[in-house]
Amino acid sequence: MSGSGAGEVRPLARPELSLVEAHINLDWAESGKHRARLDRQDQGEVLYFIAWRGATPSGHLLLEWGGADDEPISSRLLDCPNLEDLFVMPEFRSRGIGSMLLGAAITAAREAGYTQLGLGVAVDNPGAMRLYERKGFQDSGIGEYTTGGSYLDREGTVQTWQEICTYRIRLLSCAQPA
Ligand SMILES: CC(C)(COP(=O)(O)OP(=O)(O)OC[C@H]1O[C@@H](n2cnc3c(N)ncnc32)[C@H](O)[C@@H]1OP(=O)(O)O)[C@@H](O)C(=O)NCCC(=O)NCCS
Repeated sequence: MSGSGAGEVRPLARPELSLVEAHINLDWAESGKHRARLDRQDQGEVLYFIAWRGATPSGHLLLEWGGADDEPISSRLLDCPNLEDLFVMPEFRSRGIGSMLLGAAITAAREAGYTQLGLGVAVDNPGAMRLYERKGFQDSGIGEYTTGGSYLDREGTVQTWQEICTYRIRLLSCAQPA
């Protein structure tokens, strides 16, 4: 568990699931994602970090021990857990919560014995890019790649999305604090 004036971060516990579902629910198409991630956490595949302000969940970050699924990342990086879906509710942003979620993941990966930790970021997301730079994530050199997916919207229509990303790596052996 990690905490500061910005609140506290800890892996989601099952009794907290309904609170998280009630508060972090901006994305209708992904309404089942918190439960699915908690199930994966029970299987030992991930840690699903939730940030709290008192009793209110304010953001999340998924740490996948098995690394990235996307190519060209998965075949280029071995023993590199992957971070997914860093998100802070709009009303809680710019208070250090995103930094705190990243810090918790860095500490957990280091304590598990890994020497590196990675994440993909869209090239048109300069705010997230600045945050990752500050937390020590550097360009992997893999270059730009396209990722995408599809989902059903409220009307039942299939929507697709695509973004151009770069992959960044945080070395965990360096002296920089989490
Ligand atoms: C990216 C995101 C997670 C950042 O979360 P956050 O909680 O706002 O992150 P932080 O507060 O740690 O840092 C953000 C900014 O607040 C500033 N900040 C941090 N603590 C602060 C404080 N106590 N007071 C004022 N500003 C503060 C940081 O310096 C930073 O400034 P910058 O944007 O000029 O670089 C959030 O904006 C978000 O959810 N965006 C939508 C989803 C997204 O893009 N996720 C990334 C996918 S790769």
